[in-house]
Amino acid sequence: MQVISDIPLLRQQRREWQNNGRVIAFVPTMGNLHQGHLNLVREAKKHADEVVVSIFVNPMQFGPDEDLEAYPRTLERDALLLEELGVSLLFVPKVADIYARGLEQQTFVEVPGISYMICGASRPGHFRGVATIVCKLFNMVQPNLAFFGEKDFQQLQVIKAMVTDLSMNLQVFGVPTTREDDGLAMSSRNQYLTAQQRLIAPILYAQLQALVASIKQGRRDFSKLVSACKAHLLEHGFSPDYIEVRAAQTLMPPSHEDTDLVILAAAFLGKTRLIDNIQFQF
Ligand code: PAF
Repeated sequence: MQVISDIPLLRQQRREWQNNGRVIAFVPTMGNLHQGHLNLVREAKKHADEVVVSIFVNPMQFGPDEDLEAYPRTLERDALLLEELGVSLLFVPKVADIYARGLEQQTFVEVPGISYMICGASRPGHFRGVATIVCKLFNMVQPNLAFFGEKDFQQLQVIKAMVTDLSMNLQVFGVPTTREDDGLAMSSRNQYLTAQQRLIAPILYAQLQALVASIKQGRRDFSKLVSACKAHLLEHGFSPDYIEVRAAQTLMPPSHEDTDLVILAAAFLGKTRLIDNIQFQF
């Protein structure tokens, strides 16, 4: 596996592959890889000749009071895991090269509407930071295919909208969330949890499952269901940020005709913000 920081070197390898007709899949990450990331790579390998993974903790998508400094950085271990999986190239760009003119001056990509709701309302500017870095990475790697986790459901929708709106020449794949045995969605942020919080954490997913079950049984009083769910989470020591029932394609509140739904949730356990979602039909 090649490990490359230099953007011109990446482009050179990209050109070689293209000249040889190789199909290139791309998995962008912020590192600290867990089985969820590795499953993205495994899926990417099924569809492509060469898999490129990037590790870049993107300052532009962190708010001023968020965990940019504390975000776990485990490059050596990550590189070993990717090598074992047969990744062709690990791209580890430097902040100074990515934001060469400084973050303040950086041209940005923003997908309107969908970026401002739900997680976007709680984390202003977050999806602008995500769309901008993913657009830049796509321009550097120029993949044929790109793979993202469904755990970040809204992020996936933002990226799909960007690819459509900007006529980008690649296909975006969502990969189902990888869970621990007790149901907790895998996330690099889970390691911030204390032992006690880790025991409580799976209740978030269990509550979402209970909500889905109620809706499938015919309940349509979403706001009542959501309030009960928030109260339950509070009792267990969570501070719920949001729980929303939305139409899966648009993320708008569902109309009577919408049958493809998603429940999205974010809740704090202490300082750790957990997110999860379940997409379902009814
Ligand atoms: O999901 C992530 O890890 C990040 O938001 C991404 C897509 C790598 C962009 O920095």
